[in-house]
Amino acid sequence: MLAVDGLAVAYGAVQAVAGVSIRAPAGEVTCIMGRNGVGKTTLLRAIMGQLPARAGSVRLGDADLTAQPAHRRARAGIALVPQGREIFPRLTVRENLEVAWSALGRRDPAAIERAVESFPILRQFARRHGGDLSGGQQQQLAIARALVGGPRVLLLDEPTEGIQPNVIDEIGVVLRRLAAEHGLAVVLVEQYVDFVREVGTRFYALDRGKVVAEGPTAELTDEVVHRHLSV
Ligand SMILES: Nc1ncnc2c1ncn2[C@@H]1O[C@H](COP(=O)(O)OP(=O)(O)OP(=O)(O)O)[C@@H](O)[C@H]1O
Ligand SMILES: [Mg+2]
Repeated sequence: MLAVDGLAVAYGAVQAVAGVSIRAPAGEVTCIMGRNGVGKTTLLRAIMGQLPARAGSVRLGDADLTAQPAHRRARAGIALVPQGREIFPRLTVRENLEVAWSALGRRDPAAIERAVESFPILRQFARRHGGDLSGGQQQQLAIARALVGGPRVLLLDEPTEGIQPNVIDEIGVVLRRLAAEHGLAVVLVEQYVDFVREVGTRFYALDRGKVVAEGPTAELTDEVVHRHLSV
């Protein structure tokens, strides 16, 4: 279980995350929702350790990671699929995965094979350049790259952004399976409400850096969407 308590992050005078507490249990898909600019990416990057927190804590099971830098959090089992994917366009699919693999110092030769199991297309396109893949395939590569280290917590920042519906469905199936069958705690930042209803277990709605609504996704009613999420 990932436990975030009272997390606060600021860019100078801009308080982007203002005391957020969330729980992301193993085996569930926990969704973070909210309009543009409410602090979703900032929250994920602070959980990953890429941005310093001004206050609050990040714990994974019994381990307090609050003082740990990003690479230690990665080794503790947290992985982030960043907004916009950020794969290496000039490297092949295989090389993109190998970079992640060596960065984590893993010697397990089967790690890459396991990571692409969810996305057969990546095996087929192993020698293709990342930049030559479609947006949906790049997103699948970004997820596989995050899986290379065998994480316990998978953070995803708007994985459906700009992606065609059939690939969104495939990604949804994979996220549910990673949670239900492999016991990952999946944390999904997402503005696409139908996708959250489809794959999510619980949701948190953010507004101006604060949690303004939360509950099981069954309680993500049109009224909640209208009040906190629709533009
Ligand atoms: N590097 C930065 N320097 C200053 N302010 C920033 C920086 N990055 C983000 N912000 C501000 O912090 C707030 C939260 O931004 P963040 O990117 O976390 O929002 P978001 O919910 O992920 O938005 P989106 O849905 O557009 O991805 C916004 O007001 C944004 O303008
Ligand atoms: Mg964002």
